Amino acid sequence: MPACAVIVLAAGQGTRMRSSLPKVLHKVGARAMIDWTLAAAQSFGADRRIVVVGPHAPQVRAHLERAERPPEIAVQAQPLGTGHAVLAAREALSDFEGDVVVLYGDTPLIRPETLQAMAAVRAVHGGVVVLGFRAENPAGYGRLIEDEQGRIARIVEERDADAEEKAVNLCNSGVFLADAKLLMQLLSMVRADNAKKEYYLTDIVGLGRSAGFATRYVGCPETEVLGVNSRLELSQAEAVFQNRARTEAMLAGVTMIDPNTVYFSYDTAIEADVVIEPHVFFGPGVSVAAGAHIKAHCHLEGATVGPGAQLGPFARLRPGADLRAHVKIGNFVEVKNAVFHEKAQASHLTYVGDAEVGARANLGCGTITCNYDGFDKHHTVIGEDAFIGSDTALVAPVRIGAGAITGAGSVITKDVEPDALVVSRSPQKSVPGWAKAFRERKKAERAGRGKP
Ligand code: UD1
Ligand code: CA
Repeated sequence: MPACAVIVLAAGQGTRMRSSLPKVLHKVGARAMIDWTLAAAQSFGADRRIVVVGPHAPQVRAHLERAERPPEIAVQAQPLGTGHAVLAAREALSDFEGDVVVLYGDTPLIRPETLQAMAAVRAVHGGVVVLGFRAENPAGYGRLIEDEQGRIARIVEERDADAEEKAVNLCNSGVFLADAKLLMQLLSMVRADNAKKEYYLTDIVGLGRSAGFATRYVGCPETEVLGVNSRLELSQAEAVFQNRARTEAMLAGVTMIDPNTVYFSYDTAIEADVVIEPHVFFGPGVSVAAGAHIKAHCHLEGATVGPGAQLGPFARLRPGADLRAHVKIGNFVEVKNAVFHEKAQASHLTYVGDAEVGARANLGCGTITCNYDGFDKHHTVIGEDAFIGSDTALVAPVRIGAGAITGAGSVITKDVEPDALVVSRSPQKSVPGWAKAFRERKKAERAGRGKP
């Protein structure tokens, strides 16, 4: 394969989003659209990745600079069209020899396999390869006009199309593949003589063909190249991603009773033989090991669920929750930045934050780690086999020794030694007959006021 550079266009205004956030930073599957495209470029094996940004969106640049593997950035001073935008990367590629793929920052669901298919066609025919799709409703897209041999004669934008061209449902995805030098040469010939008075990238096809180069297309499903221009289309892209993630999970051995109510993030990792009940949300950074059972209505983010663990119904795992093998976390339990070692459990109505819970420890109903004093977070350590009585408040920093028991309702402020019983509650007082006497006095008062 020749060396390959990917140019991602992200300098459009994105006005149809009606947002203060630049369009390409809106998320699909909890990942910014621009990051999806860059990830696809990476898996495709791009040697260079250049994002074309506008001067009006410093947030996009800041976002890209923070990335683990920051791409190169080129600035398009004015949004004069997609062809003009690609030219903004010309200088960066001035001594680059190889192929260029053009992707749009608002088309997040493109798969590296599809780019591979385009490269295969270019390897045989050379010239320019376009990624096309058959649209159910082609309105708004550029149309690929085929010749008798099934090659692409030219691309016509919706606004510039006549009735016959508008009837064509073979559309332009916006993804192009061509030799770098050829691409830049064709782009320098593009004129803004169209309805929008813009420099269209799409014109390189007609120009390339006139110059005698092959102009082929590769087809892909419409859902893969859905271009996001509005919030409505953002939700449609999200739906495509969710369906893809659900399908992949089920094919990999995950059982879902109602997959349409389970939501994934781009990096959710679930092993085989996990059962997921309805209405479960996976935020970013979650992995679930084989045999775990996630009951209905759970919310997880930044969490690890170990093999055979049981979660929910109605449990919440926040970042840093780390459940080891066969841990049990029940209803209305919230875990944040805390490790539960093997077979530890908290079955009901509990908050565990900034803590380490030893193997087989049992946290009774209503256990609370009081981890925050309004300024700092403090740590709680619960030893192996400890038994925390119901409604225990553990005021951190505090350590409960292995095998210790805390009495129900206790407020624990000092460390507890292993195997001890600790109780902190005011002594119970009993007054014989008081309740009966109280009731009789109240009834007599009521009768005195003439009420039954
Ligand atoms: C474009 C294509 C159309 C195709 C459709 C697929 C052109 C002329 N039209 O139309 O054939 O069917 O995408 O979704 O190419 N951008 C810049 N600078 C600019 C203009 C745009 O960087 O000056 C970027 C945008 O940020 C966006 C991408 O290019 O990521 C596409 O621009 P957009 O205005 O959305 O093009 P469409 O009208 O959707
Ligand atoms: Ca678009």
